[in-house]
Amino acid sequence: MRLLVLGGTSWLGGTVADLARRRGHEVTCLARGFSGAVPGQVRHVVADRWQDGAYDGVADSDWDAVLDLTWQPELARSALSALATRAAHWILVSSCSVYADHGTPGHDESAAVVDGWTGRGEAPIEEYGAAKVSCETASRDAVQADRLLIARAGLIAGYGDTSDRFGYWPARFATESHGAVLVPPLDGPVQVVDVADLARWLVLCAESRTAGTVDAVGEPHVFRDVLEACVTATGNGSPIVESSDPWLQEREVSPWMGPESLPLWLPRPDYAGLMARSNTAATASGLTTRPLGDTVDDSLRWEVELGLHRARKAGLSPERERSLVAALGGPATE
Ligand SMILES: NC(=O)c1ccc[n+]([C@@H]2O[C@H](COP(=O)([O-])OP(=O)(O)OC[C@H]3O[C@@H](n4cnc5c(N)ncnc54)[C@H](OP(=O)(O)O)[C@@H]3O)[C@@H](O)[C@H]2O)c1
Repeated sequence: MRLLVLGGTSWLGGTVADLARRRGHEVTCLARGFSGAVPGQVRHVVADRWQDGAYDGVADSDWDAVLDLTWQPELARSALSALATRAAHWILVSSCSVYADHGTPGHDESAAVVDGWTGRGEAPIEEYGAAKVSCETASRDAVQADRLLIARAGLIAGYGDTSDRFGYWPARFATESHGAVLVPPLDGPVQVVDVADLARWLVLCAESRTAGTVDAVGEPHVFRDVLEACVTATGNGSPIVESSDPWLQEREVSPWMGPESLPLWLPRPDYAGLMARSNTAATASGLTTRPLGDTVDDSLRWEVELGLHRARKAGLSPERERSLVAALGGPATE
């Protein structure tokens, strides 16, 4: 298969490109190279998709599959205009952020999405979900339904994560010296897809020309499962201090991501469905998911490589965690 990855210098795109190459495919990645290098033995066409003629280096070839990772509608449209007629199959990596309702568990691909982003030029990050909707619309307008896969990824976890979100937990449990661990409600839903599983499924879909719209999400879990996997991975015997949604909200702890956040925590009821989507379509189309413990192990390996005590993009600082633990009446740290 001749596979063109629009991206490939970052986390998921690089994992896809590397796996496809190892499965014997001829892989080309088009990217600026700002995010990193393409995997070994993969052709890199250096181009900035905001510039005219960005696709000149790849537009005169036929492709068995093109996989686009962008969330910028203008880049999705320019790629489709230059390449859709040269591609037997098109895959857009979209996101479950497209959905309008994040409060209802068990929704599937038929759920309503937000309105697309209609601005011009570069969409702001606050419009990520709406921008992905516009990328989806552009893809459907340019590619026949039987040649198009819209893969709506849920939270991606595992080795190589650049977001610092899921990895906060294995890293936190690996730093026993920080004392009692503040955790969100243990029964809160958690659903991730391991980057290696997602990449494998995307390559299989490209090979088999799987079409449709699929939520690429893993098995449903609760936070207790993450905690147990982290304890198993690290052997940490520190006390656990469980908090509640209103308690965390009163103290303005940020959910999900960002500085001084509690990653994987999503307050209910508003976000009860964001990590509790149906994975029926994904499973039916061949997505297989490894045990959560394997994702924790791989994530921990990556966290150790990055350095457990580095400044993080997501998660509580030790000082903030200690003060929250103390406020909840948890044990003090020496
Ligand atoms: N992380 C999650 O939990 C999550 C959840 C749901 C969905 N997703 C989706 O999953 C995918 C993740 O992909 P990823 O980790 O490989 O990539 P990414 O971090 O989203 O990077 C996008 C790729 O596009 C390239 N790119 C960006 N601007 C470009 C430009 N102007 N010209 C040419 N290339 C450009 C980047 O390369 P250069 O910078 O080198 O040009 C990079 O390789 C994305 O589609 C994301 O929206 C992620």
